[in-house]
Amino acid sequence: MERLTSPPRLMIVSDLDHTMVDHHDPENLSLLRFNSLWEHAYRHDSLLVFSTGRSPTLYKELRKEKPLLTPDITIMSVGTEITYGNSMVPDHGWVETLNNKWDLGFVKEEAGKFPELKLQAETEQRPHKVSFYVDKSKAQEVTKELSQRFLKRGLDVKIIYSGGMDLDILPQGAGKGQALAYLLKKLKTEGKLPVNTLACGDSGNDAELFSIPDVYGVMVSNAQEELLKWHAENAKDNPKVIHAKERCAGGIIQAIGHFKLGPNLSPRDVSDFLECKVENVNPGHEVVKFFLFYERWRRGEVENSEAYTASLKASSHPGGVFVHPSGTEKSLRDTIDELRKYHGDKQGKKFRVWADQVLATDTTPGTWIVKLDKWEQDGEERRGCTTTVKFTAKEGEGLVWEHVQQTWSEESKVKDDSSWII
Ligand code: GLC
Ligand code: MG
Repeated sequence: MERLTSPPRLMIVSDLDHTMVDHHDPENLSLLRFNSLWEHAYRHDSLLVFSTGRSPTLYKELRKEKPLLTPDITIMSVGTEITYGNSMVPDHGWVETLNNKWDLGFVKEEAGKFPELKLQAETEQRPHKVSFYVDKSKAQEVTKELSQRFLKRGLDVKIIYSGGMDLDILPQGAGKGQALAYLLKKLKTEGKLPVNTLACGDSGNDAELFSIPDVYGVMVSNAQEELLKWHAENAKDNPKVIHAKERCAGGIIQAIGHFKLGPNLSPRDVSDFLECKVENVNPGHEVVKFFLFYERWRRGEVENSEAYTASLKASSHPGGVFVHPSGTEKSLRDTIDELRKYHGDKQGKKFRVWADQVLATDTTPGTWIVKLDKWEQDGEERRGCTTTVKFTAKEGEGLVWEHVQQTWSEESKVKDDSSWII
């Protein structure tokens, strides 16, 4: 958050499973559309927050399976764990407040007496979250009985039913909604209260997100029955909450447009980049567009035309250098020539490219440094490079690529130099 010097323009607080991530879409298209929109138009002045029911263990697993961006803030275990930045620094202050009227041992013991409740995996049992599976038909009754029992013992707990199967027991002050309220308060004291906040969800544990004042909300089209029921009973007349027509991340993009929160055209929805000239020269846009072009080129989705390579060459400096992750230095223009050979080599294959954490800084007037992580998914294999691009801007000529340097990202499991083009 330190990188923001003023209040964020937009803060998106999104659930992951069946909201940001569509588990029914093996191509991850709506997620990839969201990713390029975020990196293109929001990363530099906005905040991305993931709020998931998953524990840190399962969250990290999902990151390996799906092309998720790196959020600024990660809220896990149904609002009971908040962490900041890439290194996921925990918010100890939040943990302290959750200890109030909470007795983990007692909660486990009492809930364990219900034969209808089946304990979830060990990874999902957290200091402030005890989780079970329970049949839909029994959920309401069990919830009622459990709350009565806890109340009698002076324990203030919250019981949440999600996805028609999961039952979580948390401290009363916890949950996704309370975690968001805490975060907003914290941002406000730092003078960084977001101009707009959009909460996105699909299931029971997301309901609370939609009752936080001044927050826009979107229930994605595929929202669960329990969330729609909650909405009908509690928030039907709130114009700030919509039920999107589109699934998952597509619904988030739809809500950005509906509430007029900023640009809502993903670069992935633009078919011809040569025609897509942005009014303001922005080096971050340039990089997002280039890597999208690169994906389409290799998938054979753009025409194998001289016009493209000529345009790329025209915007790269004649003496421009590319430092390959292997350490080899090449000329930028030679690299573009090399790219010509690879047109369509990934046609019909599971090949995707995305940029993460695209941030531009203007060091000296007319010079820009863009840093990003460039990821490439090729079938089951994923490789990523931390990429630095130096641009110069000349009056009326737009941006010129001067220098590109790549090193294998620490998170990249595979660090194979061969067949890595750029
Ligand atoms: C995630 C968690 C699980 C929890 C569910 C609903 O699936 O892994 O423990 O019960 O979200 O909150
Ligand atoms: Mg969900």
